[in-house]
Amino acid sequence: MMENRNSAGILGTGWYVPERIITNEDLEQMVDTSNEWIVERTGIHERHAAALDQPTSDLAERAARMALEDAGVAAADLDLIIVATLTPDRVMPSTASVLQDRLGARQAAAFDLSAACSGFDYAAVVACQFIETGVYRHILVIGAETMSKVIDWTDRNTCVLFGDGAGAAVFGSVEDGLGVQSFDLGSDGSGSELLQIPAGGSLKPLTAEALLMHENCVHMDGRAVFRFAVRILGETVEKSLAKAGLKKEDIDWLVPHQANTRIIDAAASRLELPAEKVIVNIGKYGNMSAASIPVALAEAAHAHRFRKGDLVALAGFGAGLTWASCIMKWAKED
Ligand code: UT7
Repeated sequence: MMENRNSAGILGTGWYVPERIITNEDLEQMVDTSNEWIVERTGIHERHAAALDQPTSDLAERAARMALEDAGVAAADLDLIIVATLTPDRVMPSTASVLQDRLGARQAAAFDLSAACSGFDYAAVVACQFIETGVYRHILVIGAETMSKVIDWTDRNTCVLFGDGAGAAVFGSVEDGLGVQSFDLGSDGSGSELLQIPAGGSLKPLTAEALLMHENCVHMDGRAVFRFAVRILGETVEKSLAKAGLKKEDIDWLVPHQANTRIIDAAASRLELPAEKVIVNIGKYGNMSAASIPVALAEAAHAHRFRKGDLVALAGFGAGLTWASCIMKWAKED
C-alpha cells in the first residue's frame, strides 16, 4: 500500500434473500433433471427467487439497511453507492440511483458496476480507492441480483444453478494496517461468448424473435466456464497474496464465489486450505452472481466467524470473462 493513505475496510455488512424457495424437487417437475444430479454436480439443494413484482433494488435496499445499521452509519452520511449487478431494475437509470433515493442518501453519488459474478469484488476495490485517498468517507457497496428473471426455466443446463439475493457492505476508514491489503482484478474478453445474455443490448436489441429464442436469458458453455473457474479462482488469490507479501498459510478465511462446490474445492485445495476455513453457502442459495460473495461474507460476519485481524480473502470469477480477488484484514470488532 502507498504511504499516507488511509486504511480502507468494512465497517458493517448485511444481506437479504427473498422468501420464496425453489427446491431441486420443484425443478424436477419443470425440466429433465434430478435432485441427485444437481447435488452431486453442483452442491446446490435449493435457491431463493424474488416475487415477480420484486425488483433487484428491493433486495438491495433490505441488504443495505442491515449493513448501514451494522456499521452505525446513517444513509445521509454516505458519499457513494455502488451496485454490482447484471440484473438492474432497468437498463437506465442505474439501480444505485434508485436506491440512493430510497435510502435517503442525499449526499451520495451513485452508479452501477458491470462485472457479472466478479462485481462485488470489483466494486469493493473501487470503493477502497476513494477511501484510501481520503476523497470519500463512507461508501455502500452492494451485490444484488434477481437471476430468476433472466433464467430460461426450460434450460436444465442453467436453470438449476442460479438464485436471487443481495449482500451489502459499508466501507470506510479503519485502524492502520487493517482492512484491504491487496487485490487482483482481471478480464479476458476473448471469452465473452461463453457466458452471456445475447439479446437486449445494442448488439442485438430485444425483438419478438429474440424473445421466442429465449435470447433475453443467460446462455452458458458450462464446461468451458468450469475449466476457467477451476484455474482462475486459486490463481487470483495467489496473485493478491504475492502483492501483499503474504503466503497461503496466512489466510484465515476464503470467501469464494458460490458457483459450484467442485470449483470451490479445487481452489481450496490449490490454496491448501482446510474446509473449515472456506465459507460455503451454495447449498441453500445457489449461484447468486454478484450477490454470492457479499451474502456469504455477511452471513459469516453475523455468525461471529471472523475475529478482528483475521485475514479474509474474497475471490470471484464470472462473465466477461472476469475475475477478482481482494485480501483484507478483518477490521471490525466482533
Ligand atoms: O457464476 C459463474 C458462472 N457459472 C459457473 O461457474 C458454472 C461453471 N460450470 C459448472 O459448474 C458445470 O459445468 C455445470 C454444473 C454447469 C455442469 O456440470 P458438468 O459436470 O460440467 O456437466 P456437463 O455440462 O459436462 O454435462 C454432463 C451431462 C450432460 O449429458 P451428456 O451430454 O453427458 O448426456 C448434460 O446434458 O449432464 C447433463 N446435464 C444435466 N443432467 C441433469 C446438464 N445439466 C443437467 C441437469 N440435470 N440440470
